[in-house]
Amino acid sequence: MKKELRKAVIAGNWKMNKTPSEAKALIEEMKPLVADAKCDVVLCVPFIDIPAAVEAAKGSNIKIGAENVHFKASGAYTGEVSADMLKEAGVEYVVIGHSERRTYFGETDQTVNLRSLAALNAGLKAIICVGETLEQRELGYTETLLKFQTKMALTNVTKEQLKNVIIAYEPVWAIGTGVTATAEQADEGNGFVRAAIAEAYGADVAETVTVQYGGSMNAGNADELVAKVNVDGGLIGGASLKAPDFAKIVAAASK
Ligand code: 13P
Repeated sequence: MKKELRKAVIAGNWKMNKTPSEAKALIEEMKPLVADAKCDVVLCVPFIDIPAAVEAAKGSNIKIGAENVHFKASGAYTGEVSADMLKEAGVEYVVIGHSERRTYFGETDQTVNLRSLAALNAGLKAIICVGETLEQRELGYTETLLKFQTKMALTNVTKEQLKNVIIAYEPVWAIGTGVTATAEQADEGNGFVRAAIAEAYGADVAETVTVQYGGSMNAGNADELVAKVNVDGGLIGGASLKAPDFAKIVAAASK
């Protein structure tokens, strides 16, 4: 395991929070607090916040991401946003297949794959989310499920395109619940993801892919989580809405 081969990435996922003016204010507050980061710093924001966020982050080390992308380039898909639209707006990253989208909006492993391909083909970096429910964990399916979701998401993704892929292991039972996976559980889950990548692309390639942990990561537990060999940063929900907390997580990943 060579942790130094991979760049740690701390990404905030704001979900459906913050208006454009609130987004601007929060990014202004965050900028000086994360300026010395040794990891990559990303904020994934609601579509409507993107112009304000890109403008506010200009000249700083904060990159802006979206929270979803459609798989077609254009057409009759009311309410959707294409990869080219995001790219032109200054977006560099996009979250794909978050468990909330899988649960509430009918996202499947197939649509996650199509959205990932659309993002990668447009030159965006894809943060692809995978994770088991509590029931699946208790039934003993965690490894099988994480490997299946990872491989499905990466179908037809080339080795070259994989350089722009981040996988976020987010156990569904740990999202927004305050129940964090233990550092050992996070490391194990991320290890299953990396093993799936190794099976598909080879062990050397798998060593280079950033695999984040997400699920109730906060200023208090980030140190222990990101120290694990398989945990290359995090995807942060609630704690990314508070500048001081988010900055502490960034500092933990910068050690
Ligand atoms: P919380 O950090 O609020 O648990 O959310 C995690 C998450 O879903 C990030 O995508």
